[in-house]
Amino acid sequence: HGTSRINAKGHLEIGGCDVTDLAKEFGTPLYIVDEALVRQRAREYMEAFRETGLRFQVAYASKAFCVMAMCRLAEEEGMSLDVVSDGELYTALQAGFPPERIHFHGNNKTPEEIEMALNANIGCFVVDNFMELSLLNAIAAEHGKTVNILLRVTPGVEAHTHDYISTGQQDSKFGFDVGNGTAFKAVEEALKQPQLKLLGVHSHIGSQIFEVDGFRMAVEKVAAFSIDVRSKLNVTFPVINLGGGFGIRYVEGDTPLPLGTYVKAITDAIISEFTAADYPLPEIWIEPGRSMVGDAGTTLYTIGSSKDIPGVRKYIAVDGGMTDNPRPALYESKYEAILANRANDEPSEVVSIAGKCCESGDMLIWDLKLPEARKDDLLAVFCTGAYNYAMASNYNRIRRPAVVFVKDGRADLVVARETYENIVGNDIIPERLRKQA
Ligand code: LLP
Repeated sequence: HGTSRINAKGHLEIGGCDVTDLAKEFGTPLYIVDEALVRQRAREYMEAFRETGLRFQVAYASKAFCVMAMCRLAEEEGMSLDVVSDGELYTALQAGFPPERIHFHGNNKTPEEIEMALNANIGCFVVDNFMELSLLNAIAAEHGKTVNILLRVTPGVEAHTHDYISTGQQDSKFGFDVGNGTAFKAVEEALKQPQLKLLGVHSHIGSQIFEVDGFRMAVEKVAAFSIDVRSKLNVTFPVINLGGGFGIRYVEGDTPLPLGTYVKAITDAIISEFTAADYPLPEIWIEPGRSMVGDAGTTLYTIGSSKDIPGVRKYIAVDGGMTDNPRPALYESKYEAILANRANDEPSEVVSIAGKCCESGDMLIWDLKLPEARKDDLLAVFCTGAYNYAMASNYNRIRRPAVVFVKDGRADLVVARETYENIVGNDIIPERLRKQA
């Protein structure tokens, strides 16, 4: 899918680049991002919204993959940006992302983070709790600024991958609970803060969601809440944010909907709920992360050792693992992969792909059908664009891989492979431990 195909040499090609050439030029493990596919995803969202005639913002949830080149891409595609930390904010600002299109999330923003965002004049803070309401107001007052805020609410809809329940969500570290009146109190509190301009409410029901019902239910709850607030406090919200969570296909059996279908479900529900109450139609914001970059990413590894336990299992080890993709170890996430340098060879055995970390749990894929793999073959693992580089670590002091954007036969390095200097860069040997000359 995307621009991926198998070329005449039987090699995987992405963005017009033969991945065996990419391996030679940039080394492995290597994250490869299909730039055209990322842009296509952005356009699917933007176009689906444009068709509705509603005012909207599509804020890329940068936590999925936050590097400066990606911020540039999001900006070029007309998106806004959701950041959740000083590091993500810094990355966006360094990339020159328009601050007025940055939204700042998080359940424990520090005073330093708030200052940094205020100084940059970002577009909106998504306020998570009462402490943050007063802290933000106080810091804004010191700076003589008024700031736009949304209140993050938990609407009482919990979306799992396949099903959702309408009660459990109350038990969440995020946001103000609608069901028990906390969210209403938060609105009253926000209205009392002179430096805060309340734009509306935010709801995020979960991630990797394949159905629209959870989003519809969230809209119903948020609309009912907004209507209640209007009737009791005579305040209308100009903005409603429905968060992210739109699913992607990692493996057979994953059944995401076309991105426009999620948008249409949300906007249809908004239009019907708010129109029925004669409520001015709010601007709609969403925050897709995974669905913007997930299936545009491929990780390329070189195969090294293997271990065959006859009658039990054959392990094939690659030159990366949980350090570049912790998701299988953390969430038991499933991935598909092929031999990228012999992509037309028929699968002939079932193997399990191990990483190189000193830990038994460092497995990338269990029971994968592959042609008989040899040392130095290249393994391409698909759908690694989201929450892979973003969650990578230096466990075992392994250097983080490079990231390249590929498009129209060009490959551009957007993150360099870490160096040994990077690995020891922050280490300090105290005087008393230094070797005497
Ligand atoms: N907005 C908010 C407030 C969020 O908390 C999240 C994700 C998103 C948007 C983006 O959701 P997405 O469209 O990517 O599903 N590390 C996990 C995923 C954690 C998602 C956290 N919040 C993983 O690797 O699956």
